[in-house]
Amino acid sequence: MKGLVDTYNRKIDYIRISVTDRCNLRCIYCMPSEGVREIIHSEILTYEEIIRILSIATQLGIKKVRITGGEPLVRKGLPSLIKSISDIKGIEEISLTTNGVLLKRFAKELKDAGLQRLNISLDSMDPKKYEEITRGNHLSDVWQGIKISEELGFSPIKINMVPIRGFNDDEIKEFAALTFDKPHHIRFIEFMPTGAKDIWSKEKYISTKELKEIISKLGELMPIKNEWGSGPAKNFQLPGAKGVIGFISAISDHFCAGCNRLRLTSDGKLRPCLFSDSEIDLKKAIREGCDDNELQRLLLLGLQIKPEKHHINESDPNAIERPMSAIGG
Ligand code: GTP
Ligand code: 5AD
Ligand code: SF4
Repeated sequence: MKGLVDTYNRKIDYIRISVTDRCNLRCIYCMPSEGVREIIHSEILTYEEIIRILSIATQLGIKKVRITGGEPLVRKGLPSLIKSISDIKGIEEISLTTNGVLLKRFAKELKDAGLQRLNISLDSMDPKKYEEITRGNHLSDVWQGIKISEELGFSPIKINMVPIRGFNDDEIKEFAALTFDKPHHIRFIEFMPTGAKDIWSKEKYISTKELKEIISKLGELMPIKNEWGSGPAKNFQLPGAKGVIGFISAISDHFCAGCNRLRLTSDGKLRPCLFSDSEIDLKKAIREGCDDNELQRLLLLGLQIKPEKHHINESDPNAIERPMSAIGG
């Protein structure tokens, strides 16, 4: 297997598959309160279609898969998809990004199906603020989901927090301090102007630089060496901590040079970059009866249109058309 390499000589071995654009929350940084227009069911890839695309991508060199949404656990039968993915020869890792609300119900089934890693969004530990940010009253469900996932041995568990000035910035140290007791990765994601057209502003955005200054009050942040393909987070550790602190600096320090990923949207578009609306319609090709060679050609075309870097920091909230929930982050 020769492996996939794009025009800028980046090795691509990871695909993020969004299985639905629907969600049981309405996070302020992601959606307006009324939600976004949902993709109609018949336009969503079936699990069989996903497996067909993934099988070919795997033959080309994809080794890691992350399942995303919207909220992936709202789609029926997700553990069965995970099982089918784990049966594909060449898949080395399957992970899931979830808001955690349904995790307590599904964690065991997911583990049994072959899921290896979990990233869970949690933006506040205060029930009122959690409700304000997610427009949902599910904080205790998320904590229970995290606890069950720990007991089942998911490792590492990564917790994603998007700090927003005036909403949850007073909890930054508290989140970082979780790493003293737990082996989790606590990741601070810079607030991106995607999907949150009405609420994103420069004033609410908090840079990694500022986050580090706040967290350094707990002790010196010691860098951990990142390997190729270890994802967009730059990782650090506080003295004596069991866990890891990660910063995802999508705005202030883009990590495009180290990007190893492609995306597949729930409506079957191959999207080589989160921040570029250039997409290749795999669903159309499949439903018109294309053969595997054609599908392979389209996947390789995705590498050719993968941009060198994004320009989101130079642009405005309307920079991309798809809502974040329809891309999967
Ligand atoms: P692992 O490193 O495999 O654990 O996953 P991850 O951090 O890539 O996945 P996760 O779904 O937890 O995403 C965390 C944040 O990183 C989200 O806000 C994503 O939008 C962002 N992110 C993931 N991949 C990319 C990327 O290629 N480009 C940019 N700009 N952001 C990304
Ligand atoms: N800015 C930063 N992170 C975001 N996410 C969703 N929308 C945004 C945004 N506008 C994060 C979620 C989730 C991950 C997949 O993407 O918090 O953890
Ligand atoms: Fe749902 Fe995730 Fe968007 Fe929140 S960020 S509304 S959990 S898709």
